Amino acid sequence: MKKALVPGTFDPITNGHLDIITRAASIFDEVVVAVALSAKKNTLFPLDRRVELVEEAVKDLPNVTVKGFDGLLTDFAFEQGAHCVVKGLRAITDFEYEFQMAAMNWQLHRAVETFFIMSPPEYMYLSSSIVRELASMNGKFEKFVPENVVPALKEAYSK
Ligand code: PNS
Repeated sequence: MKKALVPGTFDPITNGHLDIITRAASIFDEVVVAVALSAKKNTLFPLDRRVELVEEAVKDLPNVTVKGFDGLLTDFAFEQGAHCVVKGLRAITDFEYEFQMAAMNWQLHRAVETFFIMSPPEYMYLSSSIVRELASMNGKFEKFVPENVVPALKEAYSK
């Protein structure tokens, strides 16, 4: 059984994230989407709501579960019995950061391997932050997020 962790802040989950999760689920036997607390990021949605939104978005993927976590990713991977971490790789701006994270995680836990899945061109420049910006300024963000995220974002910015 090959189990992989797909980590992120998911504030909120986008179609780019969903693409990576779906592809990871077709490669690995079991996938745990690990939603980080990311306390320093001052997120729009609290952790439990981000977990809920990911859960709704992945409900049709039978080998995917969703869990929130705080602390080191490698510790959580170890705790979950996952030896693989899967990250999406978008345009080159991601590379430096992801390379640093993968190198640090490798030093922390040699047993945990990082795998990268290339984002498809249509999601190369998609991020949760750009979706939040669009939604906050009444831009058309609907096609960039799973259906269940649309009302959540609208509500968040209607206040
Ligand atoms: O979606 P994001 O915000 O790019 O995801 C980043 C995330 C949550 C994967 C990363 O910040 C992370 O792994 N956080 C947990 C803390 C950790 O293990 N940091 C790396 C070693 S210092």
